[in-house]
Amino acid sequence: MPIENTVLRAIRERRSIYRYSPGPVPDEMVQAILEAGRWAPSWGNTQPWEFIVVKNETTKREICDIAKSTLIANKNIEGASLIVVICVNPKVDPYHFIEDGAVATHNMALAAHSLGLATYWIGIYNAQNSQRSVESRVRKALNIPQTHRVIAILPIGTPEYKIEKERKWLRDMVHHDRYGNTMLSPAGATESRDSSKSSKR
Ligand SMILES: Cc1cc2nc3c(=O)[nH]c(=O)nc-3n(C[C@H](O)[C@H](O)[C@H](O)COP(=O)(O)O)c2cc1C
Repeated sequence: MPIENTVLRAIRERRSIYRYSPGPVPDEMVQAILEAGRWAPSWGNTQPWEFIVVKNETTKREICDIAKSTLIANKNIEGASLIVVICVNPKVDPYHFIEDGAVATHNMALAAHSLGLATYWIGIYNAQNSQRSVESRVRKALNIPQTHRVIAILPIGTPEYKIEKERKWLRDMVHHDRYGNTMLSPAGATESRDSSKSSKR
């Protein structure tokens, strides 16, 4: 029997949800989500992140319009009750600020899911950091200082639907002791679709 607990279940069952039912998210839940971000690991515990909670309708719409112009984030996120924008200060962690921001983002996404809420990650970080990038437009809309990089946008709301997704098999990503050795151990050999809860895309 595969090991199961609430954390493992949340990791497996969280999905990116792109439409939200109307209605506010209680402040306690927002607080819990932000706390999950705060408790993320970071390089040398530098905690270079700052979170902008956008509830103002006009500002939300502005962020939605900018997000829609990204390559794949053309979904309708206006229905989200709030948007959390995750930014980091590379001066605080010059080495791993992207990973730090990413792990805080995912902690918050998992926390939202665990509370019955829905979210999805809109990738904003732009390696070129050009004046006209989506990142710089978000920075301008929210008055984020030039010193900071924007890692992600998380719209948060009540899920309007449920969805299942597939993942590659473990056997296609795990190497034993050295790269290329994909021979499964006897325990791993029993891996089945059920054990990874894969389903249709
Ligand atoms: C770094 C990163 C950036 C992403 N950016 C976007 C995005 O801009 N637009 C979008 O629709 N989904 C985005 N996603 C969501 C992925 O498409 C989604 O996680 C993937 O399809 C797997 O689906 P699941 O999250 O439901 O398991 C992003 C996810 C990650 C981790």
